[in-house]
Amino acid sequence: MKDRVDQRLREALAAREAAGLLRKTTARPSTDTLTNLAGNDYLDLAHDPAVLIAAAEALHTWGASASASALVTGYTELHAKLEETLAAWHGYPHALLMNSGYAANGAVLGQLPKPGDVVLADRLIHASMVNGILTSGARLRRFAHNDLDALELMLVEESGRDGAIFVVTESIYSMDGDAPDLPRLTTLRARHGFVWILDEAHATGWHGSTGSGLQEEQGCRAAADVVVGTLGKALGSQGAYVLCHNPDIRETLVNLAGEFVYSTHLAPPAVAAALAAIGRTRDFSPDRPRWHNLSREWREGLSEAGFSVPSGHSPIIPIVMGDAVRVLKMAESLRSAGFLVAAIRPPTVPDGTARIRISLHRNLTENTRAGFVAALKGLNL
Ligand SMILES: Cc1ncc(COP(=O)(O)O)c(C=O)c1O
Repeated sequence: MKDRVDQRLREALAAREAAGLLRKTTARPSTDTLTNLAGNDYLDLAHDPAVLIAAAEALHTWGASASASALVTGYTELHAKLEETLAAWHGYPHALLMNSGYAANGAVLGQLPKPGDVVLADRLIHASMVNGILTSGARLRRFAHNDLDALELMLVEESGRDGAIFVVTESIYSMDGDAPDLPRLTTLRARHGFVWILDEAHATGWHGSTGSGLQEEQGCRAAADVVVGTLGKALGSQGAYVLCHNPDIRETLVNLAGEFVYSTHLAPPAVAAALAAIGRTRDFSPDRPRWHNLSREWREGLSEAGFSVPSGHSPIIPIVMGDAVRVLKMAESLRSAGFLVAAIRPPTVPDGTARIRISLHRNLTENTRAGFVAALKGLNL
């Protein structure tokens, strides 16, 4: 029996390796001098002095661990303060901290839709949302990426049926760095009465005049019914949160979401780091236009060098190459040239769209951009 399991594991891994899809953990040394264009610390807050001091103070006051789930003793005044701060920042009355974005999306989408409901989801939503929807028992329909005409057609088709309609989108898509038209989604929501769940994981910090995300930037603050945000990307910490208008959504998650009920709550230093990071994010308001220009300049530089990249001003730039093995080799060569980039392969992205994903951060210099573009051009593709 055990031999059969061992053989099954070996064969599955060998098949992945042959397709260039095997994933490996690579331990990064603290002395790493590579230019990091792979992590999601877009605002360079993970090492920001104010963030480090806040985390260290919380470590001394509250300890290294929450030591229990939120419903036992893990929920402290610090956690409550972060929830209040997040809610006020985004313009929602209710917030709930979760241990990760993966858990938050699983909880929201696993608990809110029910059998008999339909979930209309963008084709490229994050795996955590797909997994949540699949556990909910609701019917899943997917519309072409950012195609709100296709969504509208589905809404018309679904109208008049029993059951609720949920629409699920990201604001900045994690592997493409592009965005849907949020004002149009807001209008569609008003017309069709669906429940809109929006993942702002990659927009928080970088977008919006106070950094609260793309809803703020596109003039539809707090339009979605439920927002999922993360603390582990631009906020330089760890964990996630759910925002909602309806208090019963928060209460439902607190009572029924296993991801919340049965898991040790966020460590206090991570909570304090996120609180300090939100303060820093607000300080950055005058700088945001410069970062957006930085994103445009990187895209222009890459296009001029012959690489096809989408336009935009988000911190994520995909260079879609197609072949997974080729993308792995590119990432290795770029590493030798001093740049750490993510080689993103299926199933994270659709088959045939393996890519180099570049994440920008606010302190990147013109020299880095020139050096990176030169290194990319020098690759033997
Ligand atoms: C769009 C999106 N949502 C959620 C998550 C999960 O967040 P976390 O890393 O906090 O689990 C990610 C992670 O990369 C993501 O890209």
